[in-house]
Amino acid sequence: MSKNKPVNNPSIADALVSSGIDQILRPSNWDEYIGQENIKKNIKVIIEAAIKRSEPIDHVLFYGQAGLGKTTLAYLIANELKAQIKTTSGPALEKVGDIAAILSNLEPYDVLFIDEVHRINHLIEEAFYPALESRKLHIMVGKGPSARSVTLDLPPFTLIAATTRVNLLSGPMRSRFGATFKLDYYNTHDITKIIKRSAKVLNVAIDEPAIKILAAASRRTPRVANRLLKRIRDYAEVKGTGEVNASTCSAALQFLGVDFLGLEDADRRFLETIIHKFNGGPVGVNALAAALNEDKGTIEDVYEPYLMGLGFLERTPAGRIATAAAYEHFGVKTAGKLV
Ligand code: ADE
Repeated sequence: MSKNKPVNNPSIADALVSSGIDQILRPSNWDEYIGQENIKKNIKVIIEAAIKRSEPIDHVLFYGQAGLGKTTLAYLIANELKAQIKTTSGPALEKVGDIAAILSNLEPYDVLFIDEVHRINHLIEEAFYPALESRKLHIMVGKGPSARSVTLDLPPFTLIAATTRVNLLSGPMRSRFGATFKLDYYNTHDITKIIKRSAKVLNVAIDEPAIKILAAASRRTPRVANRLLKRIRDYAEVKGTGEVNASTCSAALQFLGVDFLGLEDADRRFLETIIHKFNGGPVGVNALAAALNEDKGTIEDVYEPYLMGLGFLERTPAGRIATAAAYEHFGVKTAGKLV
Protein backbone atom coordinates (compact mmCIF):
# COMPACT_ATOMS: atom_id res chain seq x y z
CA MET A 1 0.00 0.00 0.00
CA SER A 2 2.86 2.30 -0.77
CA LYS A 3 0.52 4.84 -2.35
CA ASN A 4 -0.85 5.47 1.12
CA LYS A 5 2.52 6.40 2.50
CA PRO A 6 2.86 10.09 3.26
CA VAL A 7 4.46 12.13 0.52
CA ASN A 8 7.11 14.82 0.88
CA ASN A 9 8.54 13.24 3.98
CA PRO A 10 12.14 13.91 4.85
CA SER A 11 14.21 10.77 4.70
CA ILE A 12 13.54 8.56 7.67
CA ALA A 13 17.23 8.60 8.37
CA ASP A 14 16.92 12.26 9.34
CA ALA A 15 14.58 11.43 12.17
CA LEU A 16 16.29 8.20 13.18
CA VAL A 17 19.22 9.18 15.32
CA SER A 18 22.16 7.24 16.56
CA SER A 19 22.07 6.60 20.30
CA GLY A 20 25.39 8.34 20.91
CA ILE A 21 26.33 5.82 23.55
CA ASP A 22 29.69 4.20 23.67
CA GLN A 23 29.14 0.98 21.75
CA ILE A 24 32.20 -0.77 23.14
CA LEU A 25 31.17 -0.33 26.76
CA ARG A 26 27.48 -0.99 26.33
CA PRO A 27 26.48 -4.31 27.92
CA SER A 28 25.10 -6.68 25.30
CA ASN A 29 23.30 -9.11 27.60
CA TRP A 30 21.61 -9.14 31.00
CA ASP A 31 24.60 -10.69 32.74
CA GLU A 32 26.78 -7.80 31.70
CA TYR A 33 24.24 -5.21 32.81
CA ILE A 34 25.07 -4.34 36.41
CA GLY A 35 22.55 -2.91 38.89
CA GLN A 36 18.86 -1.89 38.51
CA GLU A 37 18.06 -5.43 39.66
CA ASN A 38 14.37 -4.83 40.22
CA ILE A 39 13.89 -3.44 36.73
CA LYS A 40 15.82 -6.31 35.16
CA LYS A 41 13.72 -8.84 37.08
CA ASN A 42 10.46 -7.27 35.91
CA ILE A 43 11.55 -6.92 32.31
CA LYS A 44 12.67 -10.54 32.11
CA VAL A 45 9.15 -11.65 33.13
CA ILE A 46 7.52 -9.30 30.60
CA ILE A 47 9.76 -10.60 27.83
CA GLU A 48 9.32 -14.26 28.68
CA ALA A 49 5.54 -13.94 28.82
CA ALA A 50 5.38 -12.07 25.51
CA ILE A 51 7.60 -14.62 23.80
CA LYS A 52 5.37 -17.45 25.09
CA ARG A 53 2.32 -15.71 23.63
CA SER A 54 4.14 -14.72 20.41
CA GLU A 55 3.13 -11.14 21.02
CA PRO A 56 5.14 -7.94 21.13
CA ILE A 57 5.80 -6.71 24.66
CA ASP A 58 3.77 -3.78 25.98
CA HIS A 59 5.09 -0.29 25.37
CA VAL A 60 7.70 0.57 28.00
CA LEU A 61 8.68 3.91 29.54
CA PHE A 62 11.99 4.47 31.33
CA TYR A 63 12.63 7.61 33.31
CA GLY A 64 15.48 8.86 35.44
CA GLN A 65 18.60 11.00 35.31
CA ALA A 66 20.82 11.07 32.23
CA GLY A 67 23.48 8.39 32.00
CA LEU A 68 21.80 5.75 34.16
CA GLY A 69 21.27 3.24 31.35
CA LYS A 70 17.82 3.88 29.82
CA THR A 71 19.05 3.51 26.25
CA THR A 72 21.13 0.49 27.18
CA LEU A 73 18.05 -1.22 28.60
CA ALA A 74 16.11 -0.51 25.39
CA TYR A 75 18.87 -2.14 23.35
CA LEU A 76 19.01 -5.11 25.71
CA ILE A 77 15.27 -5.65 25.41
CA ALA A 78 15.44 -5.55 21.60
CA ASN A 79 18.38 -7.93 21.72
CA GLU A 80 16.52 -10.32 23.98
CA LEU A 81 13.48 -10.20 21.69
CA LYS A 82 15.76 -10.69 18.67
CA ALA A 83 14.02 -7.66 17.26
CA GLN A 84 15.32 -4.78 15.19
CA ILE A 85 15.56 -1.50 17.09
CA LYS A 86 14.97 1.85 15.43
CA THR A 87 16.06 4.87 17.39
CA THR A 88 14.88 8.44 17.31
CA SER A 89 14.36 11.26 19.79
CA GLY A 90 11.64 13.74 20.70
CA PRO A 91 13.42 16.81 19.26
CA ALA A 92 14.26 14.97 16.00
CA LEU A 93 10.55 14.56 15.28
CA GLU A 94 9.50 17.91 13.87
CA LYS A 95 6.39 17.09 11.87
CA VAL A 96 3.63 14.50 12.01
CA GLY A 97 5.07 13.27 8.70
CA ASP A 98 8.33 12.33 10.48
CA ILE A 99 6.63 9.93 12.84
CA ALA A 100 4.30 8.69 10.09
CA ALA A 101 7.36 7.80 8.00
CA ILE A 102 8.98 5.91 10.86
CA LEU A 103 5.84 4.06 11.94
CA SER A 104 4.82 3.07 8.43
CA ASN A 105 8.26 1.58 7.83
CA LEU A 106 8.30 -0.62 10.93
CA GLU A 107 8.62 -4.36 10.41
CA PRO A 108 6.57 -6.74 12.57
CA TYR A 109 7.89 -6.92 16.16
CA ASP A 110 10.32 -4.04 15.69
CA VAL A 111 11.24 -1.98 18.73
CA LEU A 112 10.99 1.77 18.27
CA PHE A 113 13.09 3.67 20.80
CA ILE A 114 12.34 7.34 21.40
CA ASP A 115 14.73 9.20 23.64
CA GLU A 116 13.73 12.49 25.31
CA VAL A 117 10.13 11.61 24.65
CA HIS A 118 8.97 14.61 26.74
CA ARG A 119 10.14 16.82 23.89
CA ILE A 120 7.66 15.47 21.33
CA ASN A 121 5.25 18.18 20.28
CA HIS A 122 1.58 17.66 20.98
CA LEU A 123 0.52 17.22 17.32
CA ILE A 124 2.93 14.33 16.95
CA GLU A 125 1.83 12.98 20.31
CA GLU A 126 -1.77 12.88 19.13
CA ALA A 127 -0.80 11.08 15.94
CA PHE A 128 0.84 8.53 18.18
CA TYR A 129 -2.14 7.61 20.34
CA PRO A 130 -4.01 5.41 17.82
CA ALA A 131 -0.68 3.89 16.76
CA LEU A 132 0.09 2.86 20.33
CA GLU A 133 -3.39 1.72 21.20
CA SER A 134 -4.72 0.01 18.12
CA ARG A 135 -1.83 0.05 15.64
CA LYS A 136 -3.59 2.51 13.36
CA LEU A 137 -2.00 5.50 11.75
CA HIS A 138 -4.26 8.24 10.42
CA ILE A 139 -2.58 10.44 7.87
CA MET A 140 -3.75 13.22 5.61
CA VAL A 141 -3.17 12.68 1.92
CA GLY A 142 -3.40 15.50 -0.58
CA LYS A 143 -3.88 19.20 -0.01
CA GLY A 144 -6.73 21.71 0.10
CA PRO A 145 -10.27 20.57 -0.74
CA SER A 146 -9.09 17.18 -2.00
CA ALA A 147 -7.26 16.36 1.25
CA ARG A 148 -8.53 13.19 2.91
CA SER A 149 -7.63 11.07 5.86
CA VAL A 150 -6.24 7.61 5.20
CA THR A 151 -5.83 4.97 7.89
CA LEU A 152 -2.84 2.66 7.74
CA ASP A 153 -2.62 -0.60 9.65
CA LEU A 154 0.68 -0.90 11.46
CA PRO A 155 2.50 -4.14 12.26
CA PRO A 156 2.76 -5.27 15.89
CA PHE A 157 5.56 -3.23 17.45
CA THR A 158 6.81 -2.01 20.81
CA LEU A 159 7.58 1.56 21.72
CA ILE A 160 10.29 2.02 24.31
CA ALA A 161 10.51 5.62 25.41
CA ALA A 162 12.94 7.35 27.73
CA THR A 163 12.82 10.64 29.53
CA THR A 164 14.70 12.55 32.19
CA ARG A 165 11.53 14.55 32.95
CA VAL A 166 8.56 12.30 33.37
CA ASN A 167 6.49 15.13 34.87
CA LEU A 168 6.57 16.90 31.49
CA LEU A 169 4.93 13.94 29.78
CA SER A 170 1.19 14.40 29.33
CA GLY A 171 -1.19 12.14 31.27
CA PRO A 172 -2.65 10.57 28.10
CA MET A 173 0.85 9.76 26.83
CA ARG A 174 1.95 8.24 30.12
CA SER A 175 -1.14 6.07 30.25
CA ARG A 176 -0.23 4.43 26.91
CA PHE A 177 2.69 2.57 28.46
CA GLY A 178 2.03 -0.87 29.84
CA ALA A 179 5.14 -0.73 32.03
CA THR A 180 6.97 2.26 33.51
CA PHE A 181 10.31 2.02 35.29
CA LYS A 182 12.29 4.59 37.22
CA LEU A 183 16.06 4.20 37.05
CA ASP A 184 17.83 5.15 40.26
CA TYR A 185 21.35 6.25 40.93
CA TYR A 186 23.70 3.28 41.35
CA ASN A 187 25.19 2.28 44.68
CA THR A 188 28.96 2.27 45.17
CA HIS A 189 29.16 -1.51 44.91
CA ASP A 190 27.55 -1.51 41.44
CA ILE A 191 29.51 1.51 40.17
CA THR A 192 32.68 -0.28 41.26
CA LYS A 193 31.66 -3.38 39.30
CA ILE A 194 30.91 -1.25 36.23
CA ILE A 195 34.32 0.44 36.45
CA LYS A 196 36.03 -2.94 36.73
CA ARG A 197 34.15 -4.27 33.71
CA SER A 198 34.88 -1.14 31.64
CA ALA A 199 38.56 -1.18 32.63
CA LYS A 200 38.75 -4.77 31.40
CA VAL A 201 37.01 -3.94 28.11
CA LEU A 202 39.25 -0.90 27.58
CA ASN A 203 42.35 -2.74 28.78
CA VAL A 204 43.16 -0.18 31.49
CA ALA A 205 45.43 -1.32 34.32
CA ILE A 206 43.79 0.30 37.35
CA ASP A 207 44.31 -0.84 40.93
CA GLU A 208 41.74 -1.19 43.73
CA PRO A 209 42.51 2.09 45.56
CA ALA A 210 42.20 3.99 42.27
CA ILE A 211 38.90 2.26 41.48
CA LYS A 212 37.62 3.37 44.89
CA ILE A 213 38.58 6.98 44.20
CA LEU A 214 37.03 6.90 40.74
CA ALA A 215 33.83 5.29 42.04
CA ALA A 216 33.38 8.09 44.60
CA ALA A 217 33.83 10.73 41.87
CA SER A 218 31.42 9.07 39.41
CA ARG A 219 28.21 10.70 40.66
CA ARG A 220 26.70 7.22 41.04
CA THR A 221 26.23 7.28 37.26
CA PRO A 222 27.72 4.71 34.84
CA ARG A 223 28.11 7.20 32.00
CA VAL A 224 30.16 9.50 34.25
CA ALA A 225 32.24 6.58 35.52
CA ASN A 226 33.04 5.47 31.97
CA ARG A 227 33.80 8.99 30.77
CA LEU A 228 36.15 9.66 33.69
CA LEU A 229 37.82 6.28 33.27
CA LYS A 230 38.69 7.13 29.67
CA ARG A 231 40.02 10.57 30.56
CA ILE A 232 42.07 9.12 33.44
CA ARG A 233 43.48 6.54 31.02
CA ASP A 234 44.54 9.37 28.67
CA TYR A 235 46.16 11.22 31.56
CA ALA A 236 47.99 8.11 32.79
CA GLU A 237 49.29 7.35 29.30
CA VAL A 238 50.54 10.88 28.69
CA LYS A 239 51.85 11.81 32.16
CA GLY A 240 52.82 8.39 33.49
CA THR A 241 53.27 4.76 32.59
CA GLY A 242 49.67 4.14 31.60
CA GLU A 243 48.94 2.30 34.83
CA VAL A 244 46.41 3.92 37.13
CA ASN A 245 47.06 3.90 40.87
CA ALA A 246 45.58 6.11 43.60
CA SER A 247 47.96 9.00 43.04
CA THR A 248 47.61 9.01 39.22
CA CYS A 249 43.83 8.78 39.62
CA SER A 250 43.65 11.71 42.06
CA ALA A 251 46.04 13.79 39.95
CA ALA A 252 43.98 13.08 36.82
CA LEU A 253 40.73 14.04 38.56
CA GLN A 254 42.29 17.26 39.81
CA PHE A 255 43.55 17.96 36.29
CA LEU A 256 39.99 17.41 35.01
CA GLY A 257 38.55 19.78 37.63
CA VAL A 258 36.59 17.00 39.33
CA ASP A 259 36.72 16.76 43.13
CA PHE A 260 36.58 13.59 45.23
CA LEU A 261 32.76 13.71 45.31
CA GLY A 262 32.50 14.19 41.57
CA LEU A 263 31.67 17.90 41.75
CA GLU A 264 32.79 19.95 38.78
CA ASP A 265 33.23 23.68 38.26
CA ALA A 266 29.59 24.12 37.33
CA ASP A 267 28.40 22.43 40.56
CA ARG A 268 30.74 24.56 42.64
CA ARG A 269 29.58 27.72 40.89
CA PHE A 270 25.98 26.68 41.50
CA LEU A 271 26.40 26.12 45.25
CA GLU A 272 28.71 29.07 45.75
CA THR A 273 26.16 31.32 44.05
CA ILE A 274 23.52 30.24 46.57
CA ILE A 275 25.93 30.63 49.47
CA HIS A 276 27.55 33.93 48.53
CA LYS A 277 25.03 35.74 46.34
CA PHE A 278 21.84 34.64 48.04
CA ASN A 279 23.06 34.26 51.60
CA GLY A 280 22.68 30.50 51.47
CA GLY A 281 19.05 30.70 50.28
CA PRO A 282 16.20 30.17 50.09
CA VAL A 283 16.36 31.35 46.50
CA GLY A 284 13.92 30.63 43.69
CA VAL A 285 15.11 28.59 40.73
CA ASN A 286 14.36 31.42 38.29
CA ALA A 287 16.58 33.85 40.19
CA LEU A 288 19.31 31.21 40.29
CA ALA A 289 18.97 30.52 36.58
CA ALA A 290 19.33 34.25 35.85
CA ALA A 291 22.34 34.64 38.18
CA LEU A 292 24.10 31.64 36.64
CA ASN A 293 23.01 32.41 33.07
CA GLU A 294 21.86 28.82 32.93
CA ASP A 295 18.72 27.11 31.72
CA LYS A 296 16.19 26.37 34.48
CA GLY A 297 15.69 22.83 33.17
CA THR A 298 19.44 22.16 33.30
CA ILE A 299 19.53 23.33 36.90
CA GLU A 300 16.63 21.09 37.85
CA ASP A 301 17.73 18.02 35.88
CA VAL A 302 21.49 18.15 35.83
CA TYR A 303 22.81 19.97 38.90
CA GLU A 304 20.20 19.56 41.57
CA PRO A 305 19.48 15.81 41.74
CA TYR A 306 23.04 14.82 42.54
CA LEU A 307 23.59 17.73 44.95
CA MET A 308 20.38 16.84 46.78
CA GLY A 309 21.53 13.23 46.89
CA LEU A 310 24.76 14.39 48.54
CA GLY A 311 22.72 16.37 51.05
CA PHE A 312 24.23 19.67 49.85
CA LEU A 313 20.98 21.19 48.65
CA GLU A 314 17.39 21.33 49.81
CA ARG A 315 14.41 22.25 47.71
CA THR A 316 11.83 23.96 49.91
CA PRO A 317 8.59 25.77 49.00
CA ALA A 318 10.46 29.04 49.61
CA GLY A 319 13.34 28.10 47.30
CA ARG A 320 16.70 26.37 47.23
CA ILE A 321 18.88 26.24 50.35
CA ALA A 322 22.55 25.28 50.64
CA THR A 323 22.90 22.93 53.62
CA ALA A 324 25.48 22.91 56.40
CA ALA A 325 27.17 19.97 54.62
CA ALA A 326 27.65 22.18 51.54
CA TYR A 327 29.21 24.94 53.68
CA GLU A 328 31.53 22.42 55.20
CA HIS A 329 32.52 20.97 51.81
CA PHE A 330 33.47 24.42 50.55
CA GLY A 331 35.10 25.44 53.81
CA VAL A 332 32.70 28.35 54.26
CA LYS A 333 31.71 29.32 57.81
CA THR A 334 28.97 31.86 57.17
CA ALA A 335 26.72 32.81 54.30
CA GLY A 336 27.11 36.01 52.35
CA LYS A 337 29.94 37.56 50.43
CA LEU A 338 33.44 36.41 51.27
CA VAL A 339 35.61 39.23 52.62
N1 ADE B 1 27.77 0.61 31.26
C1 ADE B 1 26.82 1.55 31.38
N2 ADE B 1 25.84 1.11 32.19
C2 ADE B 1 26.17 -0.11 32.60
C3 ADE B 1 25.57 -1.06 33.46
N3 ADE B 1 24.42 -0.81 34.09
N4 ADE B 1 26.19 -2.22 33.63
C4 ADE B 1 27.34 -2.46 33.02
N5 ADE B 1 27.97 -1.60 32.22
C5 ADE B 1 27.40 -0.44 32.00
